[in-house]
Amino acid sequence: MNAPKTAFITGITGQDGAYLTEYLLAKGYVVHGLVRRASLPKLDRIEPFVDRITLHYGDMTDTSNLIRLVSEIQPDEIYNLAAMSDVAVSFDTPEYTANTDALGTLRLLEAIRILKLENCTRFYQASSSELFGNTPAPQNENTPLAPCSPYACAKAYGYYITQTYRAAYGIHASNGILFNHESPLRGEEFVTQKICRAVAAIHRGTQSTLSLGNLNALRDWGHARDYIDGMWKMVNHSDSGDYVLATGEARSVREFVIFAFDHVGITIEWRGQGSDEIGVNAQTGETLVTVDSQFFRPVDVNHLCGDASKAREILEWEPVTPFHDLVTEMMDEALKEKTL
Ligand code: NAP
Ligand code: GDD
Repeated sequence: MNAPKTAFITGITGQDGAYLTEYLLAKGYVVHGLVRRASLPKLDRIEPFVDRITLHYGDMTDTSNLIRLVSEIQPDEIYNLAAMSDVAVSFDTPEYTANTDALGTLRLLEAIRILKLENCTRFYQASSSELFGNTPAPQNENTPLAPCSPYACAKAYGYYITQTYRAAYGIHASNGILFNHESPLRGEEFVTQKICRAVAAIHRGTQSTLSLGNLNALRDWGHARDYIDGMWKMVNHSDSGDYVLATGEARSVREFVIFAFDHVGITIEWRGQGSDEIGVNAQTGETLVTVDSQFFRPVDVNHLCGDASKAREILEWEPVTPFHDLVTEMMDEALKEKTL
C-alpha cells in the first residue's frame, strides 16, 4: 500500500480551509495547517477535525516560520488559501494585504525552491475572479487581468509569481481562478452571509432592517464544497496549469436578497433609486432593506460571470449546487443560529 500523502494548508481556519480539510481527510491524507495566534482561538470551522490534523502556529508574513514549517512537514501538496480576503477591507489595509496575499505567496514558493522540493511538492494558489475587475463577462483563462482593488492587485502578484515559478523552476504550481463561492461557513462580512444572517434575525424579530451597498453588483455564486474538488483535481492532474472554476450563472445582490427573504415567506418590493432605494415587505409595507453609502467601495467590480469550460474538459470538474439550493442551505443554517 502507498504511504498516505501529506498536505499543508495555509488558511485552514477559513471557509475553504475547513471544506478542504474534510475533503483531504476523507481521501486518507495527513493534513497539516497553518494557524495564527489570536487572543481568542478561531478554530470553530475545523473543530470537527482538530483531533485528526496537525496545526502549526505561523503567519504568511513570517518568512523563516514558513521555510521551517515546509522543511519539517515535507508536504506532497501545499494549498495556499491564506489571505486577507475581504476586498472592502483591502482599501483600508493595502500594505498588509500585499504583504500577506502577494509576498506570502512568494515566500511559500521560495520555501519550495530553497528546500529543493521542486520535484516533490505541488503548489495550489488561491487566485480569484477579482483579478478580472471590470473586463466584460464571461471571463475565462484568456481574459486580460484588470485588478481594481488592493486585494486584486496583491492577488495578481500571487497569480503571476505562481506562473513564473512554474516556468522558471519546473514546480507543479497551479492557479485556481475561483469565482465567488459561499456556504454556511462563509465569513459574516461577505454579502451573502450578511444577507442570510440579517434575514434570519429580521424573521426572528431581533433586527429591523438590512443595510447594504451596491445592490446591482452581479456575481457568479457557487457552493464552496463543489470548488474544493476542483482545487484537488488541479493539483493532482499530470500537468500544472491555470483554471477558472465558476458556475457560469451570474445573479445580482438584489436577487440574493429576494431569494433569502422568500425563504422566510416575505416578498420584497423595491422603491426609489440609488442611495434612496428601499426594499419593503410587499404584504405589510414595512421597510426591510436600505442602502447605506458606507458599504459602497471606492471602485467596485460590477459583473463577474465565469466560463469554466477548460476545467470541465481537462479536469472533468462540474459545480453541482444550483443557486437556489445554495441560498436555501445558507438560510436554513442561519435560521438555526441561536445568537441572532
Ligand atoms: P477566508 O474564510 O477569509 O479565510 C482566510 C484564511 O486565511 C483564514 O484561515 C485566515 O486566518 C487566513 N489568513 C489571513 N491572513 C493570514 C496571515 N497573515 N497569515 C496566515 N493566515 C492568514 O477565505 P476563503 O473564503 O476560505 O478563501 C480562501 C482563499 O481563496 C483566499 O485566499 C481567498 O482570497 C481566495 N478566494 C476566495 C473566494 C471565495 O469566494 N471564497 C474566491 C476566490 C478566491 P484567520 O482565521 O486567523 O483569520
Ligand atoms: N461585503 C459586502 N457588504 N458587499 C456588499 C454589500 C455589503 O453590505 N452590499 C453590496 N455588496 C456588494 C459588493 O460591493 C460586491 O460588489 C458584492 O456585493 C460582493 O461582495 P463580497 O461578498 O464582499 O465579495 P467580493 O466579490 O467582493 O469578494 C469575494 O469574492 C472574490 C472572488 O470574486 C471574496 O471572497 C474575495 O476573497 C474573492 O476573491
